[in-house]
Amino acid sequence: MDNRFILNIDFDLKEKQDQPIYRKLYDHFRKMILQKQLKPGTRLPASRELAKDLSISRNTVTESYSLLQADGFITSRTGAGYFVTDDLEDNSFILHVATEQDANISAPKIAERAQVWVDLHNPSRHLHNTMAFAPGRPALEEFPYDIWARLLSRRWRLNGARLSMEEDPAGYQPLRAQIAQHLHSSRAVNCDADQILIVSGAQQGLDLIGRVLWDKGDDVVLEDPVFSGINGVVEGAGAKLHAVSIDEEGLDAEKCAALYPAIKTFLVTPSRNYPLGVTMSLARRLSLLKVAKEKSAWIVEDDFDSDFRFDGRPLSCLQGLDQDGRVIYVGSFSRILFPALRLGFLVLPKSLVLPFHAAKAYVDGHTSILSQAVLADFFIQGYYASHLRRMRKLYRERRQYLLNRLDEDFHEELHILPSDGGLHICVAFNKPRDDVAFALRLAGEGVTVRPLSRFYKNETKKYGFLLGFAGYSETEMARGLDKIREILPL
Ligand SMILES: Cc1ncc(COP(=O)(O)O)c(C=O)c1O
Repeated sequence: MDNRFILNIDFDLKEKQDQPIYRKLYDHFRKMILQKQLKPGTRLPASRELAKDLSISRNTVTESYSLLQADGFITSRTGAGYFVTDDLEDNSFILHVATEQDANISAPKIAERAQVWVDLHNPSRHLHNTMAFAPGRPALEEFPYDIWARLLSRRWRLNGARLSMEEDPAGYQPLRAQIAQHLHSSRAVNCDADQILIVSGAQQGLDLIGRVLWDKGDDVVLEDPVFSGINGVVEGAGAKLHAVSIDEEGLDAEKCAALYPAIKTFLVTPSRNYPLGVTMSLARRLSLLKVAKEKSAWIVEDDFDSDFRFDGRPLSCLQGLDQDGRVIYVGSFSRILFPALRLGFLVLPKSLVLPFHAAKAYVDGHTSILSQAVLADFFIQGYYASHLRRMRKLYRERRQYLLNRLDEDFHEELHILPSDGGLHICVAFNKPRDDVAFALRLAGEGVTVRPLSRFYKNETKKYGFLLGFAGYSETEMARGLDKIREILPL
């Protein structure tokens, strides 16, 4: 066969392992045509001959020829075979679209918001979540999947048709009632079910907050360090992000007000800063409420994993202390149940209920109802409370194991940063060290630790790493610690 056709074909067929061969063959010919290696009018090899040369099936070849023909790159002449389209030059639309896809040049610009997200997005963050010590991973093997499955099938059988037509943007009413009750008793949140909006994870709640509360250029104050999901939302919304360093009492609102007089929103994690685990003191909470009132600012209270506190009683949440409806409370089931459930909620001041319902309706109509109905049953039948109790006990034990090991075996190189709960422990290096390089080295050994410095927006940073303990047995943690021991001196 004419060599022109199979120039580089082996290479092209070996590329992109996840694509079917007919598609790779299509891409190969399309590229040759667009790059003018195959001129208009050139006859393509007969499908039988090409299939034989490449040791692939003839159907595969005809399938890719059909696709090329459908896209206008080749034409068939009865009895004579396939030819590169003669008038391809004139068919500027085909060439235009295809060349753009190939070379990725002169593509229309994406929105500024999307570019911010592309720059911040770190896909590898999600790849290693199964290896110790990924933070935020609950004990997934302990989840009562059989109970969940039973509740799910019962729901479908009893109310399938009715649930299939639920369309309240606020979410499934019985679940909202359960959440309001739970928050009232466990967190002293002051709300009724109508103020609860079910969202697809706290992350969507934060995104909705950005859409409803901020215009471009609004001043939003965050804690430094901060969870990247929070600063991504602020930057994506085009708001002005001001990350203010926290101390051992949390964020100082008076200091923020002096720095940024036009503050529109404080976005804080008073129960436990992510990642440091610092709890905002009561004095600072009261000061924050006072300053927000003076500035007529909103307060977003992200209370993502306050259920896991191991020392002492939790402090009252800001929402429960708020007298004038300026706190939006954000909660999530990712930590207590499992992250892929994508269920979270907002507790809204009454004045914001309508704007948030409207925004939610335009964003995705409402969060998928079936899992909400199952979660409502999970609450009503007492499984939620018992799962939480079990996990608190298990995590307390796992955390204690990790604290002891760090204390016994690593105190010369590392110190533990104080925190009373959460699903991870933060450690800092005793001597200055590049924590990103350290984390990368460990990842190569199959151990996940998140570098602490990456969570900071300002120049003043701590260097160390996060060790998630909740999702790992003592044996798994011991294996991870052995690797850390090996790498630490290097
Ligand atoms: C502080 C904080 N807020 C929000 C979230 C997002 O939670 P969800 O999984 O419910 O979207 C996380 C997740 O790690 C978090 O750490």
